[in-house]
Amino acid sequence: MKYVVHAIAGTTVILIIASFWISTLVSEMFLDYSAVTAVKHAIVYGLLLLVPFMAATGGSGFALGKMRKGYLLDQKKKRMAIIGTNGLLVMIPAAIFLNGKAAVGEFDKLFYAVQAVELIVGVVQLTLMGMNFRDGLRLAGRLHSRADE
Ligand code: HEM
Repeated sequence: MKYVVHAIAGTTVILIIASFWISTLVSEMFLDYSAVTAVKHAIVYGLLLLVPFMAATGGSGFALGKMRKGYLLDQKKKRMAIIGTNGLLVMIPAAIFLNGKAAVGEFDKLFYAVQAVELIVGVVQLTLMGMNFRDGLRLAGRLHSRADE
């Protein structure tokens, strides 16, 4: 049962972050300031959903990991530490900062610099989560690497 919770929480986290990333890019590239402001606002509220799902993914992952050892698990733990650090030190502060700037119409150089950092670190987060997803399937025996063939 624990692994079902883990897989659902992990997949939800990936989908939430991907939706933040895509809505940010689409609003910045194709829509007006009011849409950008609405997206910044929605992302801050979305964090209230993301944080518990992230905690559930990590918590259930570490619980599942207690019963096993190995390279794939060690890699997943290391990636999770980077994902958590990036989330707390970059993604959450950036989302709150950008929402504050957008709310008062300050779309200046600093806004776009922080926006660029958020998008770049977002790609890093999605990549690390995708790798954890892949290695999770390997640990569960649902995916085999080329080396196994
Ligand atoms: C964003 C982070 C993560 C994602 C997206 C993720 C995703 C997944 C997925 C999709 C599975 C396959 C479940 C199944 O098909 O049965 C899985 C399995 C697993 N994950 Fe994660 N995971 C993440 C983080 C972690 C962490 C931090 C740990 C441990 C420290 C961990 C430990 C495990 C273990 C041990 C399994 C194998 C479960 C089994 O025996 O069936 N995961 N993970």
